[in-house]
Amino acid sequence: MNENRSNFTGKIGFIMAAAGSAVGLGNIWRFPYLVAQYGGGTFLVCYIILAVTFGFTLMAAEIAIGRKTGLSAIGAFKKLDKRFGFLGILASVVPIIILPYYSVIGGWVIKYFTTFISGNTKAAAGDTYFNDFIGSVGSPLLWFVLFVVFTAAIVIFGVEKGVETVSKFLMPILVVLTVGISIYVLTMDGAMEGLKYYIMPHMSDFSIKTLLSAMGQLFYSMSLAMGIMITYGSYMKKSTNLEGSVRHIELFDTGIAFFAGLMIVPAVFIFSGGDESALSAGPGLMFITLPKVFASMSMGTVIGTAFFVLVFFAALTSAISLMETIVSILMDRFKWNRKITCIIVFIYVLAMGIPSSLGFGVWDFIQPLGMSILDFMDFISNSVLMPIVALFTCIFVGFFIKPKTIIEEACADGAAFKSKKLFIVMIKWVAPVFLVAILVSSVLNAFGIIKL
Ligand code: TRP
Repeated sequence: MNENRSNFTGKIGFIMAAAGSAVGLGNIWRFPYLVAQYGGGTFLVCYIILAVTFGFTLMAAEIAIGRKTGLSAIGAFKKLDKRFGFLGILASVVPIIILPYYSVIGGWVIKYFTTFISGNTKAAAGDTYFNDFIGSVGSPLLWFVLFVVFTAAIVIFGVEKGVETVSKFLMPILVVLTVGISIYVLTMDGAMEGLKYYIMPHMSDFSIKTLLSAMGQLFYSMSLAMGIMITYGSYMKKSTNLEGSVRHIELFDTGIAFFAGLMIVPAVFIFSGGDESALSAGPGLMFITLPKVFASMSMGTVIGTAFFVLVFFAALTSAISLMETIVSILMDRFKWNRKITCIIVFIYVLAMGIPSSLGFGVWDFIQPLGMSILDFMDFISNSVLMPIVALFTCIFVGFFIKPKTIIEEACADGAAFKSKKLFIVMIKWVAPVFLVAILVSSVLNAFGIIKL
């Protein structure tokens, strides 16, 4: 069944490819601001527990579905059960919502790269630099458009392979740099208080919101509940160990997020004393905090430049893969040719990204459910759509194709599926109940019906 699809060679190849897609702005930009906002260690612990139970279950299920059918999401669900074709379509909507606002953040990254390379390190560390930037009209739009042009050009000309090769060399450097910067931050005065906040859970900080945002982040960061891992699974060799690969991808993805948090959260304490408003800066946190760290270093300009180039590549590879996913879905569905499809997606991303960008400035009066436009897009995809897709995936696996199907697929290489019991209990009972609970509470909360 898989013969016609090019396979990743071996386990390492598969892990690197899947982790390469999973690692992106989610780890470096999104994780740290959520940890800071939702109680530090409390969020961290929730996240890790969810990752090894929930994340494991869902990722194993998705990869197995992909490998078994040899198809991407839309075809895969349909092939296993006709009634579940809708689920593939629903999953495909997620990347369509994410890509525009992902590209807005990608634009911010390019802006900071140009700031550092032109030596404006001190300016970038200024208190108002970030808000002045995102609050203006032309500048964030310009960088956003540039980011989309890069992404679309690569997808149109089909040179993803080249970019992937380059980024394969760059990603390990990003990891090393992130670890290095976090060690530097920990040696600064006042870091210990921040470190404590980051790793020590406090039950008093715990709320449904913490769980909800940890869950949304888990999906986002590991590219779950959007069909991506099904596609990756469809390229995975039968002889590759599925369970081990999933554990490795998770470890890798969570490890990078952990160090990104270690580099950013203590720095918030160092530079702003850890007051509430600094911790709850939201999407801007990385851009507000890291320049201050770089400005305090003797080599700050060089390190800052390097950091933002590397983050740019991480963002670019994710954006390419998001766009590629959307393009191939539309091409399959409507039989359009590649160039036309790319141009349509390009125009769509511009049209949807512009409001997300303007929402921090001239359009800040538009506040759907009390959020900025970008946060709203993020909310719809991460806190509504992804839990719905995950819920149906659990029901589908738990009660229609049965966990046995996944477990057999996971054992195709002859190895045992060690977490069999965990998998069955999670996918049939714990995950669905949990998903319904957080889904309902998040929607009620967003509409102001209950207060979380
Ligand atoms: N997981 C990616 C990150 O952490 C973001 C992402 C979400 C993604 N969906 C994707 C990347 C699809 C590639 C393909 O940044």
